[in-house]
Amino acid sequence: MAVQRPRVGMYEIGRTLGEGRFAKVKLARHKETGELFAIKIIEKDRLKKVNKMVKREISTMKLIKHPHVVRLVEVLASKKKVYMILEYVGGGELFDKIVEDGKLNENEARRYFQQLIHGVDYCHSRGVYHRDLKPENLLLDTKGNIKISDFGLSALSQQQWDDGLFHTTCGTPNYVAPEVMDGKGYEGAPADLWSCGVILYVLLAGSLPFNDSNLSTLYQKIQKASINFSPNFPAGPQELVKRLLDPNPKTRMTIQEIHEHEWFQAHNSILECDDLDGRFTNGCEITELQDTSRPVPMNAFEIISTLSQGLDLSGLFVEKEDLCKKEAKFASVYPPREILSRIEDFATQLGYKVKKANYKMKILSCKPGRKGFLSMLTEVMEVAPSLFMVDIHKVGGDTLEFRDFQQQLYTGLKEIVWKTEEELAGVC
Ligand code: ADE
Repeated sequence: MAVQRPRVGMYEIGRTLGEGRFAKVKLARHKETGELFAIKIIEKDRLKKVNKMVKREISTMKLIKHPHVVRLVEVLASKKKVYMILEYVGGGELFDKIVEDGKLNENEARRYFQQLIHGVDYCHSRGVYHRDLKPENLLLDTKGNIKISDFGLSALSQQQWDDGLFHTTCGTPNYVAPEVMDGKGYEGAPADLWSCGVILYVLLAGSLPFNDSNLSTLYQKIQKASINFSPNFPAGPQELVKRLLDPNPKTRMTIQEIHEHEWFQAHNSILECDDLDGRFTNGCEITELQDTSRPVPMNAFEIISTLSQGLDLSGLFVEKEDLCKKEAKFASVYPPREILSRIEDFATQLGYKVKKANYKMKILSCKPGRKGFLSMLTEVMEVAPSLFMVDIHKVGGDTLEFRDFQQQLYTGLKEIVWKTEEELAGVC
């Protein structure tokens, strides 16, 4: 008789991948699809309680979808344990590579650092902070791309354990910002960027910027933040490291400033990454659209559902409560060519590239955003004689960036949007 592997829900549990402070990570295989996952097993009684903060943080993590952040697929729980089903990342830890091969050359280091910053920026834009970025949390996939693990798990690590102590700063302090060690409270974004500065130094030097076998001397070194650069440490990233390892979190380099830095901008790695969740990974490559000679009529269901949302831009474009909306619709009595040419003019002014084919139009950003290049498809459909429905939906890139585009478009296109009698009379 075949020996049954231990199981959690639909997942068969395999070998241990790692063991952290508050959890064990094991390999898991989905029983039906055969797909591999990593399963993080947390003993509930090692935490005082799985409180509201942890639950909130876990539900936020489920919304995090980025090519450089380990994806949380689902969370299961038994009486005694919490199981987090995570994307399996098969290429090992980035820092094992450094231990084996030594320091990286400038281009390799830049590629990893860019991927790290893209992932960190994406999570910060959603209000999720890591607070414990360090080598063990930088995994590599089989194509050699970075995946940051444990993003948003800080609520777990900041729990009070049975021993009565807070464990926020236990483990290696080498990557921890001085204000975190002070214990007086700190902001998540600058604290994460300090750790990114330490990581960049390690990638290029093959050693730590602050190290000492005596913990209190190490603390002092971190507080002073005086860093030694060997003569062959490249000049471009040296400036970045110095600005990131600024002991004052208020004047420390921000993500915006990193993006503007010349060294960071060279050879943007997002172009090489092919698992972005959009259909277009190359910002300026445009696939030809099907040639349709007339706007396609909408079906009755689409018309009713759109009408029920109202036909003005404020109702259709920006659903204020729904930050994840990937689509906007509005109606217009303007001829389709006029509608599209207004959208084209507006998008071009904002620096987007546009490709029209009859009543469809692609709008593509030429600058990578948080999730690669923002790309959108616009279609015009005839809903009644001389009444057209315009649909703009995101096909790739970041949803928040799409929302910003929509908001700008809203201002620019007010004139051509069809309004109801009540709206014209100012009733609504
Ligand atoms: N070790 C910790 N998390 C992991 C993951 N998601 N994939 C592979 N190994 C891991």
